[in-house]
Amino acid sequence: MRIYDLIAKKRDGGTHDRAELEMIVNGYVRGEVADYQMAAWMMAVYLRGMTPQETADLTDIMARSGEMVDLSPIPGIKVDKHSTGGVGDKTTLVIAPLVAACGVKIAKMSGRGLGHTGGTIDKMESVPGTRTALSQEEFFAQVNRIGLSVIGQSEGIAIADKKMYALRDVTATVSCIPLIASSIMSKKLASGSDAILLDVTTGTGAFMKTVEDSIRLAQQMVEIGTRNGRRVAALITDMDTPLGHNIGNSLEVMESMEVLKGRGTADLTEVCLQLAANMLVLADKGTREECRAMAQAAIADGSGFAKCKEMFAAQGGDTRVLEDYSLFAQPAARYELLAEQDGYIVANDAEKIGSASVLLGAGRLKKGDPIDYAAGIILHKKRGDYVHKGESLATFLGDPAKFAAAEEEYRSGLAYGENPPAEAPLVYALVT
Ligand code: URA
Repeated sequence: MRIYDLIAKKRDGGTHDRAELEMIVNGYVRGEVADYQMAAWMMAVYLRGMTPQETADLTDIMARSGEMVDLSPIPGIKVDKHSTGGVGDKTTLVIAPLVAACGVKIAKMSGRGLGHTGGTIDKMESVPGTRTALSQEEFFAQVNRIGLSVIGQSEGIAIADKKMYALRDVTATVSCIPLIASSIMSKKLASGSDAILLDVTTGTGAFMKTVEDSIRLAQQMVEIGTRNGRRVAALITDMDTPLGHNIGNSLEVMESMEVLKGRGTADLTEVCLQLAANMLVLADKGTREECRAMAQAAIADGSGFAKCKEMFAAQGGDTRVLEDYSLFAQPAARYELLAEQDGYIVANDAEKIGSASVLLGAGRLKKGDPIDYAAGIILHKKRGDYVHKGESLATFLGDPAKFAAAEEEYRSGLAYGENPPAEAPLVYALVT
């Protein structure tokens, strides 16, 4: 069959076997399949979908298109966690140390910010001196020594995904469940952990806007992982409004440290405890209730915070900033965003807030842009809060020349009402 025939087959609703998927994906990586052919095929997948077997095969082929990390030099069960992306989503900085403090090894590769969503690696690099590019030997040695390392994803992982994702980004084929599931799971399978907890976000700030679509995505990813011999579970978490109160790199590190010190905000602490408990369950540490109690104890006795400092220190970071936040790089200016009227905040669109924080310099408008680690937004009023005219809704931090554009973006996602909005759960479901 020619690539032309395979595109036509999917266009007409056909099902590919593994050899056909290999021809498409490996051909694309080798440069034998052109960008326009891959784009046409992915649009056919977008419109026609894929069977569970096709999605599992596609994922495995994408994973094998690059380096497959072998974590066997690290004894014991290694647990990974992946979020499908969010605004103010700093949970990795809390739960990786908590889970490691409970005796489960974390050898994790994380990403940088993407679009309106932030990334763990950018946040870690806001701690002066932190190295996020370790050699494989250094990475393994650190996990064996202290039980925890979080580094940037190696360039060689899931090469097919890199090429396919860049094409999806410009051909309106990102929001397609089998393509998202195979993109995420190809990287997770290649990263080598035995168990994977997925945090599938749902709402305006997430890739999946409805709970139903988020559950379908979670089910597909759990099935792909299970078919490939990994233990996988997924939590569906709310992303209609940002998680916690701080958005921006050093701001999110500070808020995460507050959770580890037992002074975290209720929403962020609760989501972190549920995620950590489910990671410990995947590592056979006990029942969900026992595992939650272990994570809580690691906050209460300070062992989670101590583990976090140990990780930053091992990766060259100046851990004094984790104790004294005034030692972080400071923003050029601050600006209070005031309420224009009295009322309940009935919408506080997470995507708009994420984009506003990118406009302030906390993220990149184009690849390779420098980041202002001190830039970002502190939310004082969130969805469901009552506000009086003239009260501060949020504080903007960063370059004052950027405040006007960020304010316009922020306000475009804000709505007031006379009555409080229906309460949204923090966690909608567990998919196993
Ligand atoms: N994150 C990914 O890695 N891939 C997608 O397709 C969407 C989110």
